[in-house]
Amino acid sequence: MKTVNTNIQNNELYIGNHSLKELAMKYKTPLMVYDEEGIKTRIKLIKDSFSSKKLKTKIIYASKAFIAPYFANILNEEGLCVDATSVSDFRLLEKVGFPMERVFFQGNNKTEEELKLALKLKINAFIVDSFSELTLIEKLAKSKVDTYFRINPYVKVDSHKHIQTANLDSKFGEGIDDDIWDKIIEFYNNAKHVVLKGLQVHLGSQIKELDPYLEAIDKISDFKTKLEKKLKYKIKAFDLGGGFGVKYLESDSEFSLKEGLKKIVKRLEKTDFEIVAIEPGRSIVGREGVTIYQCLKLKQSKYYNYCLVDGGMADNIRPALYDAKYSFDCVNNVISENKEKYQVVGKFCESGDILGKDIILSKLKENDYIVTYTTGAYCYAMSSNYNGALRPPVLFVSEKGVKEAIRRETVDDYLAVFNFKGEK
Ligand code: LLP
Repeated sequence: MKTVNTNIQNNELYIGNHSLKELAMKYKTPLMVYDEEGIKTRIKLIKDSFSSKKLKTKIIYASKAFIAPYFANILNEEGLCVDATSVSDFRLLEKVGFPMERVFFQGNNKTEEELKLALKLKINAFIVDSFSELTLIEKLAKSKVDTYFRINPYVKVDSHKHIQTANLDSKFGEGIDDDIWDKIIEFYNNAKHVVLKGLQVHLGSQIKELDPYLEAIDKISDFKTKLEKKLKYKIKAFDLGGGFGVKYLESDSEFSLKEGLKKIVKRLEKTDFEIVAIEPGRSIVGREGVTIYQCLKLKQSKYYNYCLVDGGMADNIRPALYDAKYSFDCVNNVISENKEKYQVVGKFCESGDILGKDIILSKLKENDYIVTYTTGAYCYAMSSNYNGALRPPVLFVSEKGVKEAIRRETVDDYLAVFNFKGEK
């Protein structure tokens, strides 16, 4: 799906007033481009829809979808909270001066090194994944620490198996009907440092329907009452997680941020929580990012036309991992009477390195530029150096101009980790 500010001028693609062809020629390809105004529009929509007169609301951006210092500054200006999952995430946020009271620590297996740093930085709260982790935080802490406990509420969602997180076999959180809760509550009651500020769930990703969220709210609200019978104090907060799905193809459905979030707030207002949070990632950046490739070669077999681009699974692993589908256009010849069906394939040594199957595009010439839409979430974030690939640069474009938020990785960056001394 095209980002909101995509437009066509002289049959070439633009985001706002930025020609994607000119950007590709200047910065080379593969190249990622984010529509800054588009992202701000999404943030505003989420802020407006997830607001309440009765409850304090928090929007915690899931930084695993995409993060860079330039973008962290936008999130800061917009007043959002963010989550972090590693020492590197914390360091990035620290370096840009992101307020630590708006940072949450997420992850299912936090290390001592990570926990110690997060404690030192005095972040807002730790999202605790297990009883074992809770005891470790208590041991390492020197003063009061707010925690949210992750619960698996066993709510099924309709998305790819690899991105469902509330099934019976999920590795995340402690199960809502497990026997461990008495032990957890007793631990909180006797703890010197850890406080059970809130409960958290995250059902999965790329969820299009509202019902699983409402079911989770009802389950957690009942569960809170049950826990509070034994806990010495009230549980104030509930974090419903992220997962709000976006359209990749015109024919896809998506989670309605406008209506859906309002209905979620209404349901949350019926509970007796005081603070409520959501953790959107993809729904903020997914549709607002695109990747531009150059079609270096064309190849025809008896059965297929291949468009061979200069990137692939190293910058977008999602088709190979989740069978994800994307839409494409030819940047420098968007609309044409003369169309062909292509297999848009990457340059990496894997049969699964196919970005798109049976893609109808204007008839291509070698060296044409191709755009893949909706690559803003989990593409750069999951990119790799496979086959020695160098990660692409990332631009943010807006009316103000072009900002190179991440430069292209160089061969020297790539070689820097290897030990060249005394190799045998
Ligand atoms: N909260 C938690 C605890 C999460 O684990 C995630 C995503 C989110 C929030 C944000 O979910 P979102 O709103 O972005 O759906 N690599 C996969 C997605 C993995 C999601 C990981 N956790 C993909 O490319 O589809």
